[in-house]
Amino acid sequence: MNIDIFFTPLQVQDEISLQNKTVLIVDVLRASTTIATALKNGARVIIPVASVESAVKYASTLEEGAFLLCGERGGEIIDGFHLGNSPFEYTEEKVKGKTLIYASTNGSIAITKTKYAKYSLVVGFVNISEAVRFVNEKDSNDILILCSGKLNRFCIEDAVCGGMITFLLTKGKSKKSVNLSDSAVAALKLYKSYRKDLLKMLKESEHGKFLISLGFEEDLKVASSVDSIPILPVYSDGVIKAL
Ligand code: MLT
Repeated sequence: MNIDIFFTPLQVQDEISLQNKTVLIVDVLRASTTIATALKNGARVIIPVASVESAVKYASTLEEGAFLLCGERGGEIIDGFHLGNSPFEYTEEKVKGKTLIYASTNGSIAITKTKYAKYSLVVGFVNISEAVRFVNEKDSNDILILCSGKLNRFCIEDAVCGGMITFLLTKGKSKKSVNLSDSAVAALKLYKSYRKDLLKMLKESEHGKFLISLGFEEDLKVASSVDSIPILPVYSDGVIKAL
């Protein structure tokens, strides 16, 4: 099994080269957490788009009432949209049976870059074991963990989650049977130094501090809660659905 980690979506330079890979997209704060929450609460399908303009254009092709425009810019709800990006907004009452058109600053861009991947999974701490189980069941050998990062820069919470995925995927396997890239080794070390208190790590992260300043501190608690949402969002043919 080969495991590689990209710390930003900018590293995906050739999307077609992902075609034989199982890609795990990580955006702990908050796209992965919010997408898993929305699907748990009955959203029919989530359509990730790379820009606000594409979201509005897509919405114009759907019947009024059947969809919700969702996402954020600068962490806050986009003008004219129905929902922002806090998992608390994605209640059953609001999302059940709906098509969500989703535009977040980093997460949805990372997701759309994986359209040619063999499998494309959306992963955070909240559903990490679901993703690991899927990879093991499919006997996937070529794994790429794609961190969404922040505005094309490294962010610690995605790297730590990538390290935890690496830890869980390699647990119980012989050293000979796994081949880790240097970035996967680095992420694994980072996970080991933060694993005792993931919430603290989130609170001390750049984006965590930013979200706290906007009043979203409770979102960090949700995002740090390992395996609290046993749903695996899979991106295929342009849409995300629960497995
Ligand atoms: C993103 O995709 O950039 C985020 O999920 C940002 C956020 O809403 O915290």
